[in-house]
Amino acid sequence: MSKALAHDQRYQGDQRDEYGDQGASYGRVKGDGLDTTHGAILYLEEVTVSFDGFKALNNLSLDISVGELRCIIGPNGAGKTTMMDVITGKTRPSSGTAFFGQTMDLSKMTEYEIADAGIGRKFQRPTVFEQHTVFENLELAMKMDKRVKPTLFSSLSSEQKGKIDEILKLIRLNGQEIRPAGLLSHGQKQWLEIGMLLMQEPQLILLDEPVAGMSDAETARTAELLNELRGKHSIMVVEHDMGFVTEIAQQGKVTVLHEGSVLAQGTMQQVQAHERVIEVYLGR
Ligand SMILES: Nc1ncnc2c1ncn2[C@@H]1O[C@H](COP(=O)(O)OP(=O)(O)OP(=O)(O)O)[C@@H](O)[C@H]1O
Ligand SMILES: [Mg+2]
Repeated sequence: MSKALAHDQRYQGDQRDEYGDQGASYGRVKGDGLDTTHGAILYLEEVTVSFDGFKALNNLSLDISVGELRCIIGPNGAGKTTMMDVITGKTRPSSGTAFFGQTMDLSKMTEYEIADAGIGRKFQRPTVFEQHTVFENLELAMKMDKRVKPTLFSSLSSEQKGKIDEILKLIRLNGQEIRPAGLLSHGQKQWLEIGMLLMQEPQLILLDEPVAGMSDAETARTAELLNELRGKHSIMVVEHDMGFVTEIAQQGKVTVLHEGSVLAQGTMQQVQAHERVIEVYLGR
């Protein structure tokens, strides 16, 4: 068992109050008040989103298991980003339900409450603090987490430093900690933002086109990074880069969205062989 994993297990359960002092590894598959007794962390049921009569999501049903890494693919306009907007409370469904675990009705929560409950989202464009160093960005992300005791003007505990170091290695930016984030490459900024997300220990992570604009080498390293995160969080990744999706999907489920609903679902191999999927997306 890896050290990180052993660490995770020790800190599962309600550690809210102690968190700031004791620190924890970056994994948080399941914790704090989230009821996942039926094995899923996210349930979308018959979700419809209408924009002036146009259905961006059309009776979409989908669920994500605890610890799963789910890839979502599909043509432009299929509703992938809209689905993430519904999950994060940015867009309200016209009908249908979205639940985080068994009991948290996302349609009744604000965007802030949803983030606080443990759903973290990374948008396509990186939004790091360019003037601050890589280390400071991670530190700021940790201090924005309200489970951490206020330490804005105090120095970091060794546990907190340890956690930042762990994340730095994971996002391939160790050795770069004193560089201003504004000087990083596009890919490195994306990794830093993933690191900032991880500092807040989300249980469910949503990544919308994480490798868009990255070099081939950066894309390959991002696939490695996600493969390292597998099982430590529940993760939903939207991507158009099929080489990347193949790398991270492995034998897991891939969902194909089309016109606001699920067109196909299965292993990458299965969806790649699916006639309609080839017709509307892969064969283009
Ligand atoms: N706020 C909005 N108002 C009106 N139409 C919208 C709005 N947001 C999205 N749409 C429409 O809903 C559809 C789904 O858009 P969405 O951005 O979810 O697609 P996507 O699958 O993420 O596509 P892409 O792969 O290009 O990112 C599109 O036709 C889009 O134009
Ligand atoms: Mg999109």
